[in-house]
Amino acid sequence: MAPLAGYTDAPYRRSMRRHGCRYAFTEMVDAAALVYARERTKLMLLRGEGEDFLGVQLLGGDPELLKGGIDVLNEYDFEVLDFNLGCPVPKVTKKFAGAELGRHVDEALACFSLFPGRSKFPLTAKIRILSEDDPAPTIALARGLEELGAQAITIHGRIKKVIYSGPVFYDMIAEVVKSVRIPVIGNGGIMVHSDAEQMLKKTGCHAVMAARGAMGNPWIFDGTAPTVAELCEEMKIHIREMIALYGEDSAMHMARKMVHDYFRGRGFSGVFRSAASHLSTEQDLLEMLSRAPEAHPGGLEALCGRGGNGGQSL
Ligand SMILES: Cc1cc2nc3c(=O)[nH]c(=O)nc-3n(C[C@H](O)[C@H](O)[C@H](O)COP(=O)(O)O)c2cc1C
Repeated sequence: MAPLAGYTDAPYRRSMRRHGCRYAFTEMVDAAALVYARERTKLMLLRGEGEDFLGVQLLGGDPELLKGGIDVLNEYDFEVLDFNLGCPVPKVTKKFAGAELGRHVDEALACFSLFPGRSKFPLTAKIRILSEDDPAPTIALARGLEELGAQAITIHGRIKKVIYSGPVFYDMIAEVVKSVRIPVIGNGGIMVHSDAEQMLKKTGCHAVMAARGAMGNPWIFDGTAPTVAELCEEMKIHIREMIALYGEDSAMHMARKMVHDYFRGRGFSGVFRSAASHLSTEQDLLEMLSRAPEAHPGGLEALCGRGGNGGQSL
């Protein structure tokens, strides 16, 4: 499971793991926030019960803040520390971090060189392809990261400019796979379970990372389709865990987008789904879920996988 800002907290990851996800990440954590606003980052760094393989992802482009951030993370317990070199959001790129830093290979490698020896965790990085037709710059970045000690690299097969839209350039990922000795994790456009096999086959990568395809669809991991009853049960557990962590007000506010995600593309009417925007209490959620069977043509025991199986399209 990919790191997803605003999503991949402990309750979210536990939902994914209930359906076969073995390896997940926190969302990206900003080095400045770790150094200057530690309280605010505590919940982001929380490991949920039963999470036996958890990576943390650090974001930043300022060497001093990165060092401080690494030191703070050393006080926690993770299996891996991943460096974010792929985030295209303007708020991040204007600070010369994420994908903007990744595009400047020398500066990106200079930042990553601060990690070995300072971080107590095995190191990885998540990058984007740097060109759609020339593999050389992406290979240079990947090789540089490998030489500095990265033990695996995740590559999102889209350039920074397109953000998250458009095709994934499998060839560019395949070229990197051939050029490094460390495992490469392929990312981008895995929307249904079978897309994972496509990514493996087309790129020769060692593992795949799901992102938007897993939003509201933890079943993407085991490739099954839930019944309406199972869908509702999963939401109940997931959102109860959010309430336990954040309190009802904050949790329900955050949960609205997740409830939208769970119901999207599964045959529920638009009118029914729009109720997700107005959820304020757990009781509101339970009432909405009690109406789910009548809002689906097949009722409580109907399969409601996206696209008729465990997969989906957005
Ligand atoms: C809402 C959202 C939040 C994201 N947050 C992060 C993040 O914190 N760290 C990161 O490396 N990538 C982040 N990404 C990028 C995803 O991890 C992934 O690389 C991207 O969505 C491409 O995969 P997909 O086409 O399968 O969705 C985010 C993407 C979205 C849509």
